[in-house]
Amino acid sequence: MTTAPTLTRTDWLIDPAVAYLNHGGFGALPRPVAEAAARIRADIEANPTDVFMRRWPGLVGDVRERVAAFLNASPEELVFVGNATTGTATVLAGFGLQPGDHVVATDHRYPAVAEQLTVLGAHGVEATQVSLPLDIDQAGVVAAVTDAITERTRLVVIDHIASATGMVFPVADIVAAVHARGLPVLVDGAHAPGQVPVDLAAIGADFWVGNLHKWVCSPRGCAALRVAPRWHDRIRPLVASHDHRRGFQPAFDWTGTFDPIPLLAIPAALDFWDELGWDVVRRHQHQLVTDGATVVADHLSTRVPIRDDMTAAMRLVALPAPIDKLAGETLGHRLTVEHGVTAYVTHHEGESFVRICGQLYNVPEHYERLATALPVVLRGLSERGGA
Ligand SMILES: Cc1ncc(COP(=O)(O)O)c(C=O)c1O
Repeated sequence: MTTAPTLTRTDWLIDPAVAYLNHGGFGALPRPVAEAAARIRADIEANPTDVFMRRWPGLVGDVRERVAAFLNASPEELVFVGNATTGTATVLAGFGLQPGDHVVATDHRYPAVAEQLTVLGAHGVEATQVSLPLDIDQAGVVAAVTDAITERTRLVVIDHIASATGMVFPVADIVAAVHARGLPVLVDGAHAPGQVPVDLAAIGADFWVGNLHKWVCSPRGCAALRVAPRWHDRIRPLVASHDHRRGFQPAFDWTGTFDPIPLLAIPAALDFWDELGWDVVRRHQHQLVTDGATVVADHLSTRVPIRDDMTAAMRLVALPAPIDKLAGETLGHRLTVEHGVTAYVTHHEGESFVRICGQLYNVPEHYERLATALPVVLRGLSERGGA
């Protein structure tokens, strides 16, 4: 176990009675960030018209500078959207895919991305979802993705950190290999900001979107979308507003009235983590969740898949036997309601897993609670024939 960063006991809004092991799904708010958000609300509500009609370009510009520095991106390439789903949908809709075009994705992709590809499928766009088994290494991922490219491929879509598996993809290597084939890459980085260091200049992806409401812990929902300059003429928000024709950034800076607090609270959230020190936080998160996953897997006599160096603050533990999607949802609900432990049940290539996270409010007892509760609920499910 690593030494917990100082301020570990900083208050979070999460219920301390709950063993909350799904920070990746819906991140919790640190109290200092919630307090900053309340101050921002008071400022906005003092004169909303002045905020939106006079101060807005300056406010969003300041946040953009800060986020660009955090992600090592150029501010000119960054816009904000409400969440990663909107970011990937915006790129896929605006890219200009035509009937007969082919997209390479992987079987780790987020379900919403799979749906977005299905929507394109109705217009004749074909997608391949490459199989990436959990014991794959970085070179294997790069090879599997590039091997799926055909002469009809127009775009490659990969995760930065996958939702269903927590696998950290070798994004820079994939982008380099795909660029060598002359094709652009969209990276779904929903989980990446905060959970791993992100260097967008080094990654070089044409399109990258990452949530600031997961591991950076700004209030839900806010996400940064990086679009490389050569695509700025093409990518526009899904919803056209006043400035839609004024260029890439103006079009995204105002898409209609929305709650700006999650966006404006990002600097406070970054301050919170900067003060703790990202490296020490990340080392602690990884060790905590890896030790916790081992405890759960030992209890279930199963395994913790995925190479250690391809994971960060989220890990899978295999369930003893596959369960269907509905049983997985029931399992998740019953763990929360009956045992006070919240974790995410996922499935990959015919196996079922519980995905757990490590965050500063977690302690080893949380993983022990899950280890004890899982067999009880699983037994109940199989007795009812639900598993
Ligand atoms: C890989 C990935 N992409 C996209 C999303 C969607 O994020 P949001 O609901 O904020 O749009 C998630 C959410 O967990 C995710 O894990």
